[in-house]
Amino acid sequence: MAIISPSILSANFANLQADIEMLNNSAADWLHIDVMDGVFVPNISFGFPVLKAIQPIAKKPFDVHLMIVNPERYVERFKQAGASLLTVHYEACSDLRRTIEQIRSLGMKAGVSINPETPTHVLKEIIPNVDLVLVMSVHPGFGGQKFIPESLQKIAEVRRMITQSNSSALIEVDGGVGLQNAAEVIAMGADALVGGASVFTSENPQETIAKLKNVK
Ligand code: DX5
Ligand code: ZN
Repeated sequence: MAIISPSILSANFANLQADIEMLNNSAADWLHIDVMDGVFVPNISFGFPVLKAIQPIAKKPFDVHLMIVNPERYVERFKQAGASLLTVHYEACSDLRRTIEQIRSLGMKAGVSINPETPTHVLKEIIPNVDLVLVMSVHPGFGGQKFIPESLQKIAEVRRMITQSNSSALIEVDGGVGLQNAAEVIAMGADALVGGASVFTSENPQETIAKLKNVK
């Protein structure tokens, strides 16, 4: 069974509490939290005040996806804001190894993400030192985009790299994932699925999460 991490980017921000409670009572494993700075990606989402506000009510671990430049500046603040897993972009780090170490030394799991145009081989050196690889299957910045089919091959490549390096890193896939393609994504080697629009625009989000969870 895959790990399901609904992305609150597609939640109702005018009543975030209701959506967090809905997720608390769902089969979701993690809460995917997309932080965007308007520099690394052409959009601005939300930051610490929102994380702080949901921290006391959310019961699922925070899977924080940083789409920001120089994320090393904020690692400690995300720890304080409740992150269990902190993922940074390969393209956004000047010293990736150091940033990953920094995340782990604070007791969080560390993830590295690559954009659709970034080849998987750049991860070769870092894979033994990360807990998760996040394969972006859309161009980061917005929810509700279409899954880029070439991502399937990249998932398989990352799976091979993980196996070859004897690493226990998980593969998470983010962007355009839903019931229509979850089986394929899992078959290529994904362990965790992010679901934004597929969960929140569905008639019954809890049911959609449960169905995603049961895709084989
Ligand atoms: C995009 C974000 C995603 C987004 C996914 O930059 O990283 O997490 O919320 O949304 P969907 O599932 O709608 O593509
Ligand atoms: Zn994300």
